[in-house]
Amino acid sequence: MEMFRPKYHFTVKEGWINDPNGFCYFNGKYHLFYQYHEAPFPGCMSWGHAISDDLITFEELEPAIKHDSYYDKDGSWSGSAFVKDNKLYLMYTGHCCTENGVVQTQNIVISEDGYTFKKYEGNPVISLKDLPSDATIEDFRDPSIFKENDVYYVLLGNKSKKGVAQMLMYKSHDLLHWEFHKTLISSNELGYMLECPSTARINNKRVLITSPQGLKERGDDFWNVYSSIYAIGSRDLSKIDCMDVKEVDHGLDFYAPHIISNGDIMISWMNIWERTIPLQEMKSKWTNAFTMPRKLSLKGNKLIQKPLDHFNDRFINEVTYEGIIKKEQELESFNGRYKHIHLEFRNEGELTIKLLKKDDKYLEIKYDKDTLYLDRRNTLFPIKSFKEESSSQNYRKLKLPNKKVTLDIYIDGCFIETYINEGEEVMSITCFHPLEFDGFTLSSKNGKKVKVIGKDFR
Ligand code: FRU
Repeated sequence: MEMFRPKYHFTVKEGWINDPNGFCYFNGKYHLFYQYHEAPFPGCMSWGHAISDDLITFEELEPAIKHDSYYDKDGSWSGSAFVKDNKLYLMYTGHCCTENGVVQTQNIVISEDGYTFKKYEGNPVISLKDLPSDATIEDFRDPSIFKENDVYYVLLGNKSKKGVAQMLMYKSHDLLHWEFHKTLISSNELGYMLECPSTARINNKRVLITSPQGLKERGDDFWNVYSSIYAIGSRDLSKIDCMDVKEVDHGLDFYAPHIISNGDIMISWMNIWERTIPLQEMKSKWTNAFTMPRKLSLKGNKLIQKPLDHFNDRFINEVTYEGIIKKEQELESFNGRYKHIHLEFRNEGELTIKLLKKDDKYLEIKYDKDTLYLDRRNTLFPIKSFKEESSSQNYRKLKLPNKKVTLDIYIDGCFIETYINEGEEVMSITCFHPLEFDGFTLSSKNGKKVKVIGKDFR
């Protein structure tokens, strides 16, 4: 399945990956850790580790955190990084199945060079005795460290004893000794569990991201089996309105986004749990990719996500088309599987874009009046959820504001990210068509003026 391997989305040579973890810049390199299992399916997880200078090309190293202690014997689950006094601190969840049920504890690993890792002998640093009385120990995970006013905080996802989604906050002065600070969120409006919190300080506010389980659909939002949401609050997160949450990405393949420690770059798993996985069905030795790293900024209370500037420098051979589209028209110079395609059009009428097309199979992006549709139903591999059989699993809708529309579609083999209106929204999707499915067509019933700029990844 090497032909499906993307060129500018992160993958491992062999094995399974989910959640990015511990993303940081340390000792002159970017370090990306991730949930890793050496076989192409999930199992007893370690922290895989890769380094990079530019976040486009990565060097995969030995796993950094194994599952060789009593407290992580069934997996070293997700967490985050923090650099303090020239040392890299990683905090992760030890997953341990006991006779009395699952026990999840928080643990520290320290590295002085970014290549060798040592578990702290005082582990676990947060355990059962530190839990508020209404919290469960079975679903208590994914620590996300940040610092505010010289105090370290860690956010942890939790399910309460009543089955309510919670986020707990602990504080510390040395990253090793932690005390319970407060319950930041407790709300069944957000489902039954909040996975993978992550936070960034942008424009003197805090962006909080988390991946809830059990969040119900609201309008066109949160239709995936599991979703990812963000909220904007005060610097110390004391004013988070968890009723005012937005979906991070409106596509079909996006979960557990993670923000770099002390910075504003986000990267995410480009898949979701509990569904069929075409690469596995094809017996691929590797499964899953991450999104491109995205630069975050705020426009009012809206999160703006854009590819990093230097990614755009890697696209060359620019071709432009400007004209009125009527019946379906193949724009051959835009065909291909490693592309950046930019489209601009006015917010009226309708336009259908077909990508990765051959004969009657394609991935569709359709604009109709004020709504954008991303549709995988007409592809070779619509994906099936184990949870429920609804056709919405293979398409998503997004209402657009009343203004000129720009789309920046990044195609990387089978991994496609569409940035809408300069990163105001993003829709990510996978489509496992063989590489000869590379057609690009536009059509519009009543005629539509468009400008299209295409470039190739080099
Ligand atoms: C999210 C998640 C995390 C957990 C990890 C296990 O995708 O379920 O909550 O730490 O995956 O691999």
